[in-house]
Amino acid sequence: MFGASGGIGRALALRLAAQPGFSAVLGYSRSSAVALDLCDESSIEAVAADVQRSPVDLRLLIDATGVLDGDGVVAEKTWRQMDGAAMMRAFVVNAIGPALLMKHFLPLLPRAGRCVFATLSARVGSIGDNRLGGWYSYRASKAALNQIVRTAAIELRRTRPEALCIALHPGTVATPLSARFAKPGLEVQSPEVAALRILAVLNTLTAQSSGEFFDQRGRPIVW
Ligand SMILES: NC(=O)c1ccc[n+]([C@@H]2O[C@H](COP(=O)([O-])OP(=O)(O)OC[C@H]3O[C@@H](n4cnc5c(N)ncnc54)[C@H](OP(=O)(O)O)[C@@H]3O)[C@@H](O)[C@H]2O)c1
Repeated sequence: MFGASGGIGRALALRLAAQPGFSAVLGYSRSSAVALDLCDESSIEAVAADVQRSPVDLRLLIDATGVLDGDGVVAEKTWRQMDGAAMMRAFVVNAIGPALLMKHFLPLLPRAGRCVFATLSARVGSIGDNRLGGWYSYRASKAALNQIVRTAAIELRRTRPEALCIALHPGTVATPLSARFAKPGLEVQSPEVAALRILAVLNTLTAQSSGEFFDQRGRPIVW
């Protein structure tokens, strides 16, 4: 679990640890013993080395990292709020970091049998679904992430035909990331419910779905 300290990541890790069928759940974040900082590829390499030292059969990798606002990133309401450094930071954390996770972890997946790499994207990263505007950096960095997922899925299929690499929208979830943007009338799930839904979707998908983008109920989302 990458982003095991986050609202959704923690709920997913707890739920997986309680499920039979997984011998171990490894969780990483910037505060884990082996720290994962998506802005520093050497830390991603260190985490990959740590995973390789662990006696686990790697079947499920979930990337639950991401940033919307704060920590150097701005959720812009208008182009007037665009800031180059903040946009770059959003791209590094939301798109380039997950791409580097794919670079270092997809080769560790077994060549035979079902295995999954899922990254938490966001519906607002869909270009076709963008009707409200705003959040330039977040939207664009998640759209870039979606393209990276699709591209990596194609490469992954060549050596691991039973593997999946997918993007998932978790729905709106009550976490620090969404707290400032809660609106009356918006359906907000608890992290525990979101985790259950995400895992249910992951359980049903087959290799034919690799390279696709799904919501928390398993419905495909337009790119
Ligand atoms: N919550 C929602 O409503 C919602 C809706 C749509 C999509 N999503 C997506 O779901 C994912 C998880 O969101 P969340 O709501 O659980 O957010 P969250 O509670 O704020 O957790 C964010 C996670 O990202 C990690 N992270 C941030 N910057 C990092 C960096 N530079 N290096 C390594 N890890 C970093 C954090 O780890 P640290 O402890 O190291 O900071 C934390 O584990 C995100 O991709 C988000 O875009 C969420």
